Amino acid sequence: MFKTRVTEILGIEYPIIQGGMMWVSCPKLAAAVSNAGGLGILVSAAYASGKELREDIRKTKSLTDKPFGVNLSLFPAMRPLPNEEYIEVLIEEGVPVVETSGFKAPDEYLPRLREGNVKVIHKCAAVKHAQTAERVGVDMVAVVGVENGGATGMVDVTTFVLVPATVNALSLPVIAGGGVADARGFVAALALGAEGVVIGTRFMATHEAPLHPKFKKWLLRSKETDTTLVMRSIRNTHRVLKNKAAEKALEMEQRGATLEELATVIGGGEAAKAFKDGELEAGIAGCGQVVGLIDEIVSTKEVIDGIVAGAGEILQRLEGTLTPR
Ligand SMILES: Cc1cc2nc3c(=O)[nH]c(=O)nc-3n(C[C@H](O)[C@H](O)[C@H](O)COP(=O)(O)O)c2cc1C
Repeated sequence: MFKTRVTEILGIEYPIIQGGMMWVSCPKLAAAVSNAGGLGILVSAAYASGKELREDIRKTKSLTDKPFGVNLSLFPAMRPLPNEEYIEVLIEEGVPVVETSGFKAPDEYLPRLREGNVKVIHKCAAVKHAQTAERVGVDMVAVVGVENGGATGMVDVTTFVLVPATVNALSLPVIAGGGVADARGFVAALALGAEGVVIGTRFMATHEAPLHPKFKKWLLRSKETDTTLVMRSIRNTHRVLKNKAAEKALEMEQRGATLEELATVIGGGEAAKAFKDGELEAGIAGCGQVVGLIDEIVSTKEVIDGIVAGAGEILQRLEGTLTPR
C-alpha cells in the first residue's frame, strides 16, 4: 500500500519523511521514524563539526537498520557551515539520503553526493525553486506551503495550491509538506499529486522528540492561529509560535533592526532555552499552523501507524462516496 516513486527510490515502506528539524532531530527520533517505515532525518547544522555529526549518525545506525537521512542547510547561517565536511562524513558512514533546504539549489554538492551514492531531496517553498532543483539534477523535490513550521520562503503559497502547481511543472516525484499531521493531510497530499509527505510539527509532539515537557504541553494547547511569521525583513521568513521573543523580533524588524541586533532574539542560544529548558518566552520556536490539530503526545510509531491505518479508512470511505450511482 502507498508505493510511490518516493518509496521506491528511498527504499522505505511508507512515503512519510520526517523533515530535518533544528533542536528536534536526533538519533532517537530519526531512528523511530525509520523503524516505523518512514524516513528519519538528522540536521547537520546542529553539529559543530563533522566529528560530532558522525557520532550521531553512528548512534542512529545503532538504533535502526533502516535508511535514514541527513539535512544539509543552504540557508545563510550565523556561522559558516562546513557542508563539505558533513558530506564526506555522511558518505563514509553510508547515509543513503540527503535533504537539502535553503535559498539555492544544491548544484555545487551534487557531483560528490552522486559519487557517494546519496539520493538528494531538495526542499523549497516555490515552484520556480523546485524547477531549478529539477534542472540541476536532484532525485526528488519537497515543497512546503506557507503554513509549515520553520522556513517558509518568500512567496507565501499554501500547500493546497503549491503542491499541484509543482506537480504540474515537474517530472520528478514531488513530496508535499506544510500542514500534514494525520491521515487526512496525507491522503490530501497524495490526491494533490504528491508521492510522499514531509512532516515536521507533528513529530515534535512525540515521546521521542528531545523537547522539554513544558514545550510539548505548549504544543498541545496551541491553536492553528497561534503562530506568526518572523525574519521576513532579512529574507529568511520563519513560522514560529507566538511568544514574547517573536513579538520582540517583529518589533525590531519594524524599526529596521540589523541582523546582528536581531540575533540577540532569534539566535540559537535563546531558542535552546525554549526548546530544551522550557523557558517558553525566551527564544523563537519553529512550529506550523498544523499545531492546532495536535492534542496528544504519542509515540512516533503511533503517528505513522495512525496515518497509514487512517488513510486506508479514508480511501474506503471515499470509494463509497465517489462511486457513480
Ligand atoms: C522546530 C522546527 C525546526 C525546523 N528546522 C528545520 C531545519 O533545520 N532545516 C529544514 O530544512 N527544515 C526545518 N524545519 C522544517 C521541517 O523540516 C518541515 O519541512 C516542516 O516542519 C513541514 O511542515 P509542518 O511543520 O507543517 O509539518 C523545521 C521545522 C520545525 C517545526
